[in-house]
Amino acid sequence: MLSGKRIILGVTGGIAAYKAAFLLREFQKAGAEVRVTMTPSATRFVGLETFASLSGHEVAVDIFPDQGESSDWTRHINWGEWADLFVIAPCTANTLAKIASGISDNMLTSTVLAARSPILICPTMDGEMYESPGVSRNLKIIQEQGYQVLEPESGYLASGLEGKGRLPEIEDILSKASEIIGSIKGPLEGKKVVVTAGPTREHIDPVRFISNPSSGKMGVAMAKAAQSLGADVTLIHGPLSIPKPDDIHSVSITSTAELFEAVKEYQHADVIIMAAAVSDFTPVDVHKNKVKKSVADSEIKLTKTQDILAWLGDHKREGQTLIGFAMETENLIENATSKLKKKNADFIIANSLTDEGAGFESDTNTVHLLGKNSSQKFQGPKKDIAIEILNTIFR
Ligand code: CTP
Repeated sequence: MLSGKRIILGVTGGIAAYKAAFLLREFQKAGAEVRVTMTPSATRFVGLETFASLSGHEVAVDIFPDQGESSDWTRHINWGEWADLFVIAPCTANTLAKIASGISDNMLTSTVLAARSPILICPTMDGEMYESPGVSRNLKIIQEQGYQVLEPESGYLASGLEGKGRLPEIEDILSKASEIIGSIKGPLEGKKVVVTAGPTREHIDPVRFISNPSSGKMGVAMAKAAQSLGADVTLIHGPLSIPKPDDIHSVSITSTAELFEAVKEYQHADVIIMAAAVSDFTPVDVHKNKVKKSVADSEIKLTKTQDILAWLGDHKREGQTLIGFAMETENLIENATSKLKKKNADFIIANSLTDEGAGFESDTNTVHLLGKNSSQKFQGPKKDIAIEILNTIFR
């Protein structure tokens, strides 16, 4: 349930702060990506470096970052937008009171206000404090405001006293987090999405073919992103150079003609994303046996393949969203805009082979999402871009 999800882990200044390091590891083991924000007093219990090295990301404490931290003072907004879930464990009485009152005096409390995701709060403190009228009132307030609360457990506390105030077991926090994530309806819930990915191969003879260096990374990232937003995804793919996802229904093809046949079977999907790098030409004659070089012609006669995206554009049904890609080496926006119109697509994701860190086999990309009247640039790992693009189109 947590696989591929983005979690902000908020750590406040209680003795259980050290347990948050184990919680972070468990989130990661479950496949989630985790970022950590700490209150200033939490850094008295566990060093920033512990969470920074475990999460592989800067740990945010103040809204106005100190030297060494990123200089981006709008991080609380960006993080709030980024996350699928925000878990505050442990949450002290002080932070609880701030959340109940809407105070935003550090990165953690500001991100609480900016978050678009559900927020799970694990209050952890001394038993007497937990039972105090102020804390009881604040807990009631935050629950009425829609925050999720996982009650502390009873047992021995750091004070040496016994009471209700211990951080729940890591597995209980994990299962509550999964339950919350599982109940979120993604913007593509109930939608059928077809994604094509990878290259096609146009055989000349059984051992030779015309193709391109597409790895399928961007298409697979789009398929996974669509699934994580709730879609029922079918991935139609050519020969991939990365493993195909086990948990996505997939159809394997080789040639453009096969891709066209497969796409036609799914032409009524709610969303079709043509990320495949489709060969534009195919040999007129395909030899049944390997052509011997002693008898081979030095020329291969080619004919154009079916433009599948253009065909889908011609047969587009009401309410269907058609997304194409455009791979260019010059005049990126101009050429991509003309493909958008010519192929009757709703969006074109345009990428230039000349951009650094972009293109066929790279893990990162730089793309422009072009709509009929809009344009937005995305840059970063292909898996992140894929989510951001789909969120931009469908949220
Ligand atoms: N496409 C397609 N069928 C083809 C060729 C391309 O469906 N025979 C789709 C691609 O999957 C992509 C979009 O059309 O979504 C644009 O592909 P691209 O290769 O950038 O452009 P082409 O249409 O092939 O035009 P050109 O080669 O002139 O750039």
